Amino acid sequence: MLQKAWQAQQVPQCGYCQSGMLMAAAALLARNAKPSDADIDAAITNLCRCGTYPRVRAAIHAAAAELRATRGRA
Ligand code: FES
Repeated sequence: MLQKAWQAQQVPQCGYCQSGMLMAAAALLARNAKPSDADIDAAITNLCRCGTYPRVRAAIHAAAAELRATRGRA
């Protein structure tokens, strides 16, 4: 789900930081199914030299929405 959102939002550029970004995003979604922008900014402290932060945020919101829909709490 998270990886599909990453693909749909075309998040990676060079890809160097992406495994860590995905791990941090998965940890965030495990404890917060509806993160705000501030929640995402606080949780994703990984550095990305390519500046993919806006797309990371969009992908997390998309994955969170799909997660909630899957759980029946949309
Ligand atoms: S995608 Fe290049 S460092 Fe993040």
